[in-house]
Amino acid sequence: MEIVKLREDIYYVGAVDWNVRSFHGYTTNRGATYNAYLIMDEKITLIDTVKAPFGQELLERIAEIVDPAKIDYLVSNHVEMDHSGAIPAVMEVAKNATIITSEPSGLKGLQAHYGSQYKYQTVKAGDVLSLGKRSLTFVATPMLHWPDNMVTYCKEEKILFSNDAFGQHFASSKHFDDEVDLNIVMQEAEKYYANILMPYGKQANKAIEIVRSLPLEMIAPSHGVIFRSHIEDILDRYSYFCNGENEAKALVVYDSMWHSTEKMAFAILEGFKRAGISCSLYDLKENHISDIATQVLKAEYLVVGSPTLNNNILPTVGAFLTYMKGLSPKGKKGFAFGSYGWGPQSISNIQKELEAMGVELVQEPMKINYIPTKEQLREIEDRIAGVQ
Ligand code: FEO
Repeated sequence: MEIVKLREDIYYVGAVDWNVRSFHGYTTNRGATYNAYLIMDEKITLIDTVKAPFGQELLERIAEIVDPAKIDYLVSNHVEMDHSGAIPAVMEVAKNATIITSEPSGLKGLQAHYGSQYKYQTVKAGDVLSLGKRSLTFVATPMLHWPDNMVTYCKEEKILFSNDAFGQHFASSKHFDDEVDLNIVMQEAEKYYANILMPYGKQANKAIEIVRSLPLEMIAPSHGVIFRSHIEDILDRYSYFCNGENEAKALVVYDSMWHSTEKMAFAILEGFKRAGISCSLYDLKENHISDIATQVLKAEYLVVGSPTLNNNILPTVGAFLTYMKGLSPKGKKGFAFGSYGWGPQSISNIQKELEAMGVELVQEPMKINYIPTKEQLREIEDRIAGVQ
């Protein structure tokens, strides 16, 4: 097995999940990695583990460097199972290891997942653990994106083990930012932020301030590549993601049964174009909600359409609205639209959902009975373009 070194005596020992295409519902078209790191010091320390099915791979990678039974500390930055799933496999071998976790949520979460039979040591923000030549300082990052989250800083090496923060779902045989296409890394970092961290922009802002105050030569997240050449770029990207400011762009998101709602969607698109606002259109039959969520992150307008089906909206539109409500996008403007036959409930239901999501409703809902005429479509276009 290839040995990947971050520094002398610091290794990548994680796993590459080439074929995963769904990460609890978020599409991972470029696969994923679950990064774990091994520090060989007086105290041999493993930082995070991997998803359970990759436990053997993790142990084999460690065994290339040291007998896994010799691990003294297992730092668990985050309870979620893509990082903690192989804790039982590691602890089965490393019988004397102590699991380091945050207090109180990390301990509570790990015990709920894996039981109380292991040796646990809890840490809080600012605590320092000496490994010998090096030390680890723990920085609490609660709700980024679970209550237990923390990141681990090694000041002697100026490395931040940042767990989910700055992660990207991106499988690659290379492990550093300067060995791959940085544009792809940044696209995946944005999709990751939008789908996992969007609700926690305030917490992200605070965490970035702390991270910026640390002397840094490497950021080693638990997903994707390690940043050693583009640290400022990823920090700036994160500041941009969570600054709460939107761009002058509009998204028209819809599903349609017999193309009437679709015709309205295209008229709205034309209206935004005439208003000088860049606009994109997404048919929910053809686009995954996690890809649209990435676009929602910085969009100023979110316009959603559905015809009425059985007194309600189409299920695709319902799924999108449910997903977006959970992600709690900030500072959006929007409205609902759609065609109907004998009951216009879909449009008012969407409008209510947008309102519940915190979207500022800037237009009355646009409803068309059955099939829109050319005049009606022109009217919609003009209304959006600000002509009427
Ligand atoms: Fe990558 Fe929240 O786990």
